[in-house]
Amino acid sequence: MLSTGSTDLHSAPAALRPGLEGVVLSETHLSEVDGDAGRLVLGGFPLEELVGRASFEEVVALLWTGSVSAGGLLREELSAHRELSEATLELIDRAVAGGSRAIDVLRLALDSLSLDPAVARAARGDALAPAPLILAKLPGIVAAEARRRRSLEPLPPRPELGLAADFLARHDGEKPSAARVRALEDYLIAVIDHGLNASTFAARVVTSTAADLVSALVAAVGALSGPLHGGAPGPALDLVREIGSPDRAETVLRRKLRAGERLMGFGHRVYRVRDPRAAALAAAADRLADSVGDRTLVDLVRHVEEVAVELLDERKPDRRLRANVELYTALLLDSLGLDTDTFTPVFAMARAAGWIAHCREQAEGGRLIRPRLRYAGPRDRRFGTAPARSAGSAI
Ligand code: ACO
Repeated sequence: MLSTGSTDLHSAPAALRPGLEGVVLSETHLSEVDGDAGRLVLGGFPLEELVGRASFEEVVALLWTGSVSAGGLLREELSAHRELSEATLELIDRAVAGGSRAIDVLRLALDSLSLDPAVARAARGDALAPAPLILAKLPGIVAAEARRRRSLEPLPPRPELGLAADFLARHDGEKPSAARVRALEDYLIAVIDHGLNASTFAARVVTSTAADLVSALVAAVGALSGPLHGGAPGPALDLVREIGSPDRAETVLRRKLRAGERLMGFGHRVYRVRDPRAAALAAAADRLADSVGDRTLVDLVRHVEEVAVELLDERKPDRRLRANVELYTALLLDSLGLDTDTFTPVFAMARAAGWIAHCREQAEGGRLIRPRLRYAGPRDRRFGTAPARSAGSAI
């Protein structure tokens, strides 16, 4: 029987922890989220060290191997496995034609990778071995979905380009500028991993049962698809568009707060200061805007942030509600010309690298994840007798 010290875990009355808030599942070497200092550390590097400098592949290598130096080799490996099978492309066509949401198309197409003989072969000895094969195909899936939705043909991969550049080329239909590649690379790095968020937890739970990697990633995409997790950048962009010009910011924001609405792109469960990813993405958006010589949207978002923080401080002085990652995700991805539908799938194609790293960590040292529930129902019912009616019961 499992015990810690003198406490028997099987018989001790367990404290209820709704949402598992404050529960520490295990140790990690992947990322540290310091909500009071507003600091995000990835594989030992503060986020600001990597943004603007590292390639996405280098940061994937950092999470997968502990060192950025394997980034070059990983880039070659990923670029060799980008091609999508006919089965996956056909599935994307059918899902788009049927009106599925972009994030659901990604989930379905990801699941279809189980049919790929190379993925199945790689998984034979080690359930997590197909990681590079799977990560390599996600940008192509997201780009193919976005093109299909615009009635355009999906494009083949360009092995000479890195992952971010290849994605933009296959999304836009032309080779992207260096400034666009850098901006997307910065976004992908900023959101690659973030502690034990809901989708990462889902991936770890599935891996803890010794299930295969595709199953773990499909579960993670499912968790990410919910509006409380991956769905805020679209509404944050709607808010900025509704404001439209700096002179309207205060009036619109005050009206929303008076009506009891939450300002999308502000506040965070963990951060009590500005989300460090917001700062990294704001700087990336600045660089992109300067490169194209149009700062209209960047300046509007910065003004909206300033006014919103002032008003939120007036309303909730103790809560310190600040900009979160989603406000500047909306700005950056919109500036890159992506549709709001594509925002969450692009988030997933970056975060998949983090999910995979967590699956590996979980498989190496983790136990089967199996928390408990406290039963709160009746215990003495007899079969064949009329059930007691509970209030509000429809049957
Ligand atoms: N606008 C206005 N008021 C807010 C906001 C906001 N964005 N965020 C929190 N508050 C208020 C709440 O209404 C609450 O007030 P009350 O005490 O009078 O009820 C108080 O601040 C505390 O709010 P909580 O719900 O306890 O904050 P929590 O930490 O649980 O919520 C959350 C975090 C969900 C992100 C919240 O700030 C929010 O809804 N923000 C807007 C949506 C958003 O931007 N989501 C993306 C988050 S980033 C990410 O998930 C990757």
